[in-house]
Amino acid sequence: MELNLMSTTAAELIARSHRLGADPKNTNYAGGNTSAKGTETDPVTGEPVELLWVKGSGGDLGTLTESGLAVLRLDRMRALADVYPGIAREDEMVAAFDYCLHGKGGAAPSIDTAMHGLIDAAHVDHLHPDSGIAIATAADGEALTRKIFGDRVVWVPWRRPGFQLGLDIASIKTRNPQAVGCILGGHGITAWGETSDEAERNSLWIIDTAAAHIAEHSRAEPFGPALDGYGGLPEGERRARAAALAPTIRGIASADRPMVGHFTDADVVLDFLASAEHPRLAALGTSCPDHFLRTKVKPLVLDLPATATVEESIARLHELAVTYREEYQAYYDRHATADSPAIRGKDPLVVLVPGVGMFSFGKDKQTARVAGEFYVNAINVMRGAEGLSTYAPIEEAEKFRIEYWALEEAKLQRMPKPRPLATRVALVTGAASGIGRATARRLAAEGSCVVIADLSLEKAQAAAAEIGSTDVAVGVQVDVSDADAVRAAVEATVLAFGGLDLVVNNAGLSLSRPLLQTTEQDWDLQHDVMAKGSFLVSQASAKVMIEQGMGGDIVYISSKNSLFAGPNNVAYGAAKADQAHQVRLLAAELGEHGIKVNGVNPDGVVQGSGIFASGWGANRAAVYGVEEKDLGKFYAQRTILKREVLPENIANAVFVLCTADLSHTTGLHIPVDAGVAAAFLR
Ligand SMILES: NC(=O)c1ccc[n+]([C@@H]2O[C@H](COP(=O)([O-])OP(=O)(O)OC[C@H]3O[C@@H](n4cnc5c(N)ncnc54)[C@H](O)[C@@H]3O)[C@@H](O)[C@H]2O)c1
Ligand SMILES: [Zn+2]
Repeated sequence: MELNLMSTTAAELIARSHRLGADPKNTNYAGGNTSAKGTETDPVTGEPVELLWVKGSGGDLGTLTESGLAVLRLDRMRALADVYPGIAREDEMVAAFDYCLHGKGGAAPSIDTAMHGLIDAAHVDHLHPDSGIAIATAADGEALTRKIFGDRVVWVPWRRPGFQLGLDIASIKTRNPQAVGCILGGHGITAWGETSDEAERNSLWIIDTAAAHIAEHSRAEPFGPALDGYGGLPEGERRARAAALAPTIRGIASADRPMVGHFTDADVVLDFLASAEHPRLAALGTSCPDHFLRTKVKPLVLDLPATATVEESIARLHELAVTYREEYQAYYDRHATADSPAIRGKDPLVVLVPGVGMFSFGKDKQTARVAGEFYVNAINVMRGAEGLSTYAPIEEAEKFRIEYWALEEAKLQRMPKPRPLATRVALVTGAASGIGRATARRLAAEGSCVVIADLSLEKAQAAAAEIGSTDVAVGVQVDVSDADAVRAAVEATVLAFGGLDLVVNNAGLSLSRPLLQTTEQDWDLQHDVMAKGSFLVSQASAKVMIEQGMGGDIVYISSKNSLFAGPNNVAYGAAKADQAHQVRLLAAELGEHGIKVNGVNPDGVVQGSGIFASGWGANRAAVYGVEEKDLGKFYAQRTILKREVLPENIANAVFVLCTADLSHTTGLHIPVDAGVAAAFLR
């Protein structure tokens, strides 16, 4: 028995999938699936058994692992054809796959399993290449297929993926023994081979032949002539414009539920939007079945040239959002039946702005980014189809049958519950060290996207990389006492994640000196970084939050010393008191926008704190007559709870202030000092 060893068939399949998935020309992200059939020894009977390994539901070909494969008994899977109740009940066949699993079966079999199992070839690839879909969505796709591939590739008219499509393709293969694959109308390609290499060769041949044909025969300017005033703005202007529009656009995309955003100003997007046919084509929507849940049937397109002002653009976007929602509701009403899932929200997931770029949205950054990638796939498909013919995606009713498919709905229902701060975008200043770093980590762990802003770009990026990929955390350089730098950091946040919901004013430094030794520079530095710095950050952030219309949280890391007259501490303590009063003033002012402003008063956080490490700790230790390494314990003994305060304790308080549980609390300070009676709030 070789129960724990991967079969060579499966290993070969994974290697082929990785090669195919590594090149975006072959398939879109998480699109397509591959399979292999082979004989293994049945561990129960010791007899040979024919198995089907097929990529399971979800996941991407490029990173497929053995656990991503479903493993089925081929005889049982094929026997399903005998009990198939007909197309009206084909969805029931997905549950029937469970009766065909070999052993524990691996990953959940996807809807495409029938196609892979029923086709009489040992190796099958089903892919969504832009070039193949261009042929599949050309108005005369069937004739083009014959012209490009002769009888080697067969046209299969559009049919929603499922058991019937599997039977159709299996029968086509039987009737066309010379064929190596087919073009699936409105959808993609399927290719096969008797060996893994042969299947891969056939897939690549179809993809490359379609691409070469498009390159050679496409008309010039497939998207039509250039539109005056719609060309890409110069880069700096473009990014500034994108940042200026982003809060409005995220607010529009989040009217029904909050979304994270992704922005791209890739040439492919700018070129599409600069051409005369983009309004007609964008309105036709996407076609590949993978796309509808991710991009919705069509994007919202700002119908103004790049030369329009920001104000004109914002006003028009608000009007277009109203129309978009009405049209989406009408689309739902046109096609929904009594057993359709409820409408999932009427807001656009893709917003196109001529001269500027594309904003795409999702429940997290990765989903938002992939939605954008899918729309780039759609642009490539439209370019190919229009170059040879006319772009003709599947009918709207069919798009609806995919978007509101009971099987897709069931997948959505099975998704884990979102984390408490999912969809929220946080900006934490001074987050490369100490309390800020712990806070950024905690906010990210609770589901938010985090921007780590600090004096050193390198340290900020290193702290971000510790948290995760740039889908989760990014580092930016900022000196919070410099208004331009603060504006740039807020712009970077908005361009990274679409907007901003949660600001932590944490950057700070401490120079403990008695009055007579406190220089004007000491005073200015501490006030510039903490008092003025948090004012600037709050101001730039509140502007974004107000434009988004999604509320928000601003949290100040003040200090016990904002209340307590600590020894030799006039500049630091006064700056902290300034910050603490900003909490109250801004809580009162910003409440009408749903923005809560609260503070945390830490004390004695020695571990991990750069403030303590860089002299202040030694100074305090000397003042109190203890060794520097024992300072944390010394502080703990001064507290009511006799506990040392760690950066994580402050992070916990910031998190709690931002959760829905404290949705009705603003203007509050939470002491996190293990109990210091002299700093009790009253
Ligand atoms: N550690 C404590 O016991 C304690 C107690 C009360 C309040 N606080 C406050 O908590 C905050 C964080 O302190 P910490 O102990 O984690 O210190 P820390 O030195 O570990 O972290 C502070 C961070 O702020 C950054 N920073 C400094 N000036 C900046 C500027 N102009 N622009 C951007 N970033 C800047 C620093 O580079 C550093 O990474 C500070 O506001 C501090 O006053 C700390
Ligand atoms: Zn497909």
